[in-house]
Amino acid sequence: MQSDRFAPALLRWFDGHGRTQLPWQHERSPYRVWLSEIMLQQTQVATVIPYYERFLARFPDVRTLAAAPLDDVLALWAGLGYYARARNLHRCAEAVVRAHGGEFPHDIDALTTLPGIGRSTAGAILAFSSGQRHPILDGNVRRVLARYHAVEGPPSAGAVENRLWEFADLHTPAARVADYTQAIMDLGATVCTRTGPRCAICPLARDCRACNDGAVDRYPAARARKQAPVRSRRFLIVRRGSGHILLEARPPTGIWGGLWSLPEIDTHAGADSWCEAHGLRVRRSTSWAVMRHTFSHFHLDIHPLLLEVKTSTRAIMDGDRWLWYKDGDAIEIGLPAPVRRLLDRLDAHDSPEARDDPHRALRKTRQDR
Ligand code: ADE
Repeated sequence: MQSDRFAPALLRWFDGHGRTQLPWQHERSPYRVWLSEIMLQQTQVATVIPYYERFLARFPDVRTLAAAPLDDVLALWAGLGYYARARNLHRCAEAVVRAHGGEFPHDIDALTTLPGIGRSTAGAILAFSSGQRHPILDGNVRRVLARYHAVEGPPSAGAVENRLWEFADLHTPAARVADYTQAIMDLGATVCTRTGPRCAICPLARDCRACNDGAVDRYPAARARKQAPVRSRRFLIVRRGSGHILLEARPPTGIWGGLWSLPEIDTHAGADSWCEAHGLRVRRSTSWAVMRHTFSHFHLDIHPLLLEVKTSTRAIMDGDRWLWYKDGDAIEIGLPAPVRRLLDRLDAHDSPEARDDPHRALRKTRQDR
């Protein structure tokens, strides 16, 4: 049967082309593997690597992570997105210390009860850290299997997902399971890509039904998607004479939960009355161009408004909810990526080059500095 050839072909390909130098492949403790798998859940390898290294340097083991304040974890996570992952990461570390004596369980059922660890992540952790045979089914693997077996229907549909799990289980070999797991992830990420798959060099092409039918683009079927709604908010960049910017703590759950962000108001609401209510006198206000930030389920159109203010004695103070912040302050804070970009743009505005050539300064990004 064709499935007999699947794992051997993939492993032969892995020996020549698989990735073997990723930072989480060096020392495969459950902690290191778990951390990498959570970071890689919705984020690409190249983006994850620097975050992973910073995280490990700061939190070298699960006890250090569990003992750290959530704010420190979020600060190091800032920019990776999907912040529920960071909150679950912290809760998971606490649970490992509290309920498992600081050791990740070796049993898949116990592992999947921990926050943020689903069946596929648990399978990958056990395959990589202890060579246990478990199938995985992340987005890349779904695509490989849907094409190989020409599985109709969107992978998120229950029955389709069950079939894909059956195929994932069928192909997972008993030996070299860590290499196999890495191989199928790598094939999905580098060869069997969503657009422009490279079937000519694919080790599975010979038995791949989608490829043989000339129908690779049909699989996996796209989920019927409603158009993502657009929300608009005015983001207030409130700056006082000292250069400090007013930040507001986001509620602990939901979008950007637990991060520091800019105060937001409705786009039709008046910024003046907001400032008045908060004891701030506006000396100058400047609108900036709208900036779109896309989340998994909606677009956020950010209308930035720079407000240069004088604070009065009634002005809001530092505290749990409000923070006057200036780049270079000796505190680590987690800022959502678009807020970070706005603050960088503000710095660029203020730089000496900006005064000579404001357009050039506007194009500056954090990486340029
Ligand atoms: N995506 C999820 N886990 C991964 C891993 N271990 N290597 C590369 N990409 C991945």
